[in-house]
Amino acid sequence: MSTITFDAVDGRDVTDVERVLRVRGGRSLRGQVRVRGAKNTLPKSMVAALLTDQDCLLSNVAGIRDVEIVGRMIRALGGEVQHTGSGEIRLRAGNIAPLGRGEAAEFSGRSRIPVLLCGPLLSRVGEVFIPDLGGCNIGPRPIDFHLDALQQLGAVVHEDPDGARLTARRLHGARIRLPYPSVGATEQVLLAAVLAEGVTELSNAAIEPEIIDLIAVLQKMGATISVETDRVITINGVERLHGFEHSALPDRLETASWACAALATDGQIFVSGAHQLDMMTFLNAFRRVGGDFRVGDGGIEFWRAGPLRSVALETDVHPGFMTDWQQPFVVALTQAKGVSIVHETVYEDRFGYTSALNDMGAQIQLYRECLGGRSCRFGRRNHLHSAVIVGPTPLRGTEIHVPDLRAGFSYVIAALVADGPSTITNVGLIRRGYESFEDKLLALGADLDA
Ligand code: EPU
Repeated sequence: MSTITFDAVDGRDVTDVERVLRVRGGRSLRGQVRVRGAKNTLPKSMVAALLTDQDCLLSNVAGIRDVEIVGRMIRALGGEVQHTGSGEIRLRAGNIAPLGRGEAAEFSGRSRIPVLLCGPLLSRVGEVFIPDLGGCNIGPRPIDFHLDALQQLGAVVHEDPDGARLTARRLHGARIRLPYPSVGATEQVLLAAVLAEGVTELSNAAIEPEIIDLIAVLQKMGATISVETDRVITINGVERLHGFEHSALPDRLETASWACAALATDGQIFVSGAHQLDMMTFLNAFRRVGGDFRVGDGGIEFWRAGPLRSVALETDVHPGFMTDWQQPFVVALTQAKGVSIVHETVYEDRFGYTSALNDMGAQIQLYRECLGGRSCRFGRRNHLHSAVIVGPTPLRGTEIHVPDLRAGFSYVIAALVADGPSTITNVGLIRRGYESFEDKLLALGADLDA
């Protein structure tokens, strides 16, 4: 039987970050969970609402920490954010002013979304301050592509010890080529170019479904944006944008996490709200490793079809296997027979979490070489970005600290598979992107005694 409890560390007040999760594994997860709008699209649609002074209505909103943080940020800028029903928010940015340094510092270290304020604020008030950014602890995550693109669109960047201040009279269209199809930099250009003067042509752009969802919002607001062949996005700048009503794209990262939980614990989970079209690559890999699924009208059901088999795969930009699917999948691979290889090509440092899995009994070895299909940009740069997983290995419960969002949820899966109790600290981080995950675990049969 699985047992999960929450309590404070050292008897201090329980803030989210200090929350501790106690898990006793060995039980298969069975039942149904619901996923709502994606963590990686909701905040961007909220930022898009800053491009207009009209009402915007966003639905299918998940109750996650990143939405709360962006809501607070919009209020600090002078906008209004109202929860108008279950999973629905109304946003209005009638008059907005850039955050002062002190206010900006409040958001510093909590989220990467502040960098996306540049387009709306430069277009509407000619100035923006970006604090040093937070987000997940998965490597350096620079913003050089963002700043280069904004400069090409006419922004002037002033260095500041606590971040960067940008100013612009009016942004203008430009031909921009990204060095790598970065999700954030593509969103940056979209949000800045929609109100710029003239046409912007962005090549080597990211085309993740979350980006297409943002483009859909901007189109509803009156923008003309075309996604051409070969990763080229063309944006025709307009003078004004209007309000929108939009239901956010369901979270395909959370969906994959529950699918992997079913696979690793030999359970069966129906993920209501899951969307097949955005997950084709994941679904193929899920079947290859020995899982199966049924796509229904309202979601996808996932289960283990037989003994798990080893696989070789690499993460990539869309339509490749997402870097955020990698961590829960690796936990499932510890239970697969044979030698699996996972080559991470999006982030240079996203396997740090595997050492805790090894402490639990997994056999995962990291390599600097590009193992698998092809060489990537990290191959000659001394980064441990390929993993070899030998399985199946029984896992045993232990004490684990959550280093980042996706690794955190993967540790929960590992603890559910393990023999004996596990204590997981810093679980507040998981709330950045997994709505009510403790309740969902309980509904699937995990036991909670808090
Ligand atoms: N990069 C640069 N310079 C830049 C921007 C990116 O070198 O200016 C590099 C990054 O260091 C990384 C690669 O480009 O190696 C890709 O980064 P990208 O910009 O695509 O990532 P992001 O926009 O910062 C979003 C998601 C991530 C997700 C990635 C990739 C949000 C808020 N975050 O990050 O989500 O892993 O795209 O799909 O949308 C998560 O949800 O746990 C998460 C980390």
